[in-house]
Amino acid sequence: MEIVVSGIRPTGNLHLGNYFGAVKNFLRLQDEYKCFFFIADWHSLTTHPHPGDVTTNVRKILAEYLACGIDPQKAAIYVQSDVKEILELYLYLNMNAYLGELERVTSFKEKARKQPDNVNAGLLTYPTLMAADIIIHKADKVPVGKDQEQNMEMARKFARRFNMIYGVEFFKEPQSYSFGGEAIKVPGLDGSGKMGKSEGNAIYLIDDAATIRKKVMKAVTDSGPTVPNSAKPEPIENLFRMLQIVSSTDTYNYFNEKYNACEIRYGDLKKQLAEDIIRFTTPIREKILAISEDVAYMDRVAAEGAEKARASAEKTIHDVRHIIGFR
Ligand code: TYM
Repeated sequence: MEIVVSGIRPTGNLHLGNYFGAVKNFLRLQDEYKCFFFIADWHSLTTHPHPGDVTTNVRKILAEYLACGIDPQKAAIYVQSDVKEILELYLYLNMNAYLGELERVTSFKEKARKQPDNVNAGLLTYPTLMAADIIIHKADKVPVGKDQEQNMEMARKFARRFNMIYGVEFFKEPQSYSFGGEAIKVPGLDGSGKMGKSEGNAIYLIDDAATIRKKVMKAVTDSGPTVPNSAKPEPIENLFRMLQIVSSTDTYNYFNEKYNACEIRYGDLKKQLAEDIIRFTTPIREKILAISEDVAYMDRVAAEGAEKARASAEKTIHDVRHIIGFR
């Protein structure tokens, strides 16, 4: 059976980008594959160095994973730091990862710019830790959003390099997975770019109806097209992209026709979009609130998940040690 691995950093609540870029595919895959879904708490230390926050945030993501429908009977749901074997593989991969290639990673350069006083080695070696997360289970498929493409390329490179250096065909080259083939980028509604926790433009699964309405109504628009069938500027394209993601095809077509006929009223579009988002998030939000109360349940899920993940990771590390020459 093919193996699926993916994780999310516990740096805040899950937003629509996380859901439609990643979690939705977790749900599709958990019925058919051997799945490992984790919370990347070590990765979060590269930008969020306070362990107190980490514990609270790990539970947040755990509750949200469960509320979205990830099923602990089907998938191993665990916390990265509960599986120490990942660190050993991270160390071995780091021995074959070169400064130049790590420094060229776009997200490293971006983060180094954002936090110039804390350009730490963890930030630099983020892609080797991510590769270790993935290949520790010898994953075939990794459901991630478009922003992870470069990290995935690095993971394949490190897997390939390990095989080459030790003259083995041990690690597979993990492939990004998105239903329909194309990796997804959920836009922000602030004019340009993607929705992100650190961009301050995210709509969270936990947001209540009033908050969602407020955020959507604030979305950047313009005075509307004056020429029929004209191309959409980026902020407008982003609004339509969101409609495409959360609303029905009929709704999308209705507003698209209005746009093409220069009759669009962005206020109406935003109202509809807000209501469609609320319809989608409300049941998830209710489940998040209920599950968050039951810390014992969440801890049990994480403990059972860690046990399954450790069993898989121990096997890989045992073989890796043998391949490298440790006895
Ligand atoms: P993170 O925590 O930034 O995001 C988690 C997942 O959500 C996706 N995502 C998006 N997809 C579409 N549109 C968006 N606007 C959007 N924002 C976020 C991300 O692509 C990701 O799939 N490096 C990873 C965490 C990680 C990981 C791993 C993932 C660590 N080890 C091993 C897979 C396998 C990250 O920072 O994701």
